[in-house]
Amino acid sequence: MMSTPGTPIVELRKVTKVYGSGEASVKALDGVDVTIGRQQFTAIMGPSGSGKSTLLHVLAGLDNPTSGQVVVDGHDITSMDDDALTVFRREEIGFIFQSFNLVPTLSAEDNILLPMKLRGHTPSAEDKQFMAKVIRMLGLENRLRHRPKEMSGGQVQRVAVARALVARPAMIVADEPTGNLDSESTAEVLELLRSAVDELGQTVVMVTHDEQIASQADRILVVRDGRIAQDRVPLRSTSPAGEKH
Ligand SMILES: Nc1ncnc2c1ncn2[C@@H]1O[C@H](COP(=O)(O)OP(=O)(O)OP(=O)(O)O)[C@@H](O)[C@H]1O
Ligand SMILES: [Mg+2]
Repeated sequence: MMSTPGTPIVELRKVTKVYGSGEASVKALDGVDVTIGRQQFTAIMGPSGSGKSTLLHVLAGLDNPTSGQVVVDGHDITSMDDDALTVFRREEIGFIFQSFNLVPTLSAEDNILLPMKLRGHTPSAEDKQFMAKVIRMLGLENRLRHRPKEMSGGQVQRVAVARALVARPAMIVADEPTGNLDSESTAEVLELLRSAVDELGQTVVMVTHDEQIASQADRILVVRDGRIAQDRVPLRSTSPAGEKH
């Protein structure tokens, strides 16, 4: 899906999300208005419980807002039925979530290929080349036949990263994708996400607690108490001077 960089891929309009009801209710999102630009790498930061994961779930159509609109790629996903939403997620979005587990009975390789298979897409020679590159960068060459329970937590996390990248969806949403990783694997994952944006024209939205990791993004949104408290450009960007901003 090639379109002009910076044009909106997701728009949240006056989005609220309330969990529970009555005295026990929690307002996880409290009137969020935000636009995510195409071919941009956005980092979401903020304290624990501030609403970061909720925001990611809502903007990827995994969860409906209580009120407000979520417009993704021109579709108001708040008015889609479940089937349409499932198709939308399958075709357009790659997920790197700790709760979005790998299929336990499938090998690492089959897990990585699953999103493409679910789309009815037979991997081309180019797809296979790209997949080989991702697998090499993530250091997974010797784990492709392993099932998830035969791998370490960090390896499973890297397989989840490869799974989201290999199908090349328009948008990748990632919740702490480097949470279990050492500094070397963290750098590789960030490089892959960065090149997904810069070379393949994808859009990445990533939650992180780490300011240094967030500084690899083009934009940082800071969430506090269910609101966007700050919207800023990282202090230090690795993109060539003058190219991105
Ligand atoms: N399913 C749920 N039912 C009830 N409350 C929930 C639910 N999910 C999240 N919450 C509450 O909504 C608020 C926001 O949660 P969320 O998971 O978005 O926070 P977060 O910023 O991702 O935090 P963390 O950094 O700890 O992952 C929290 O107060 C949380 O307790
Ligand atoms: Mg969270």
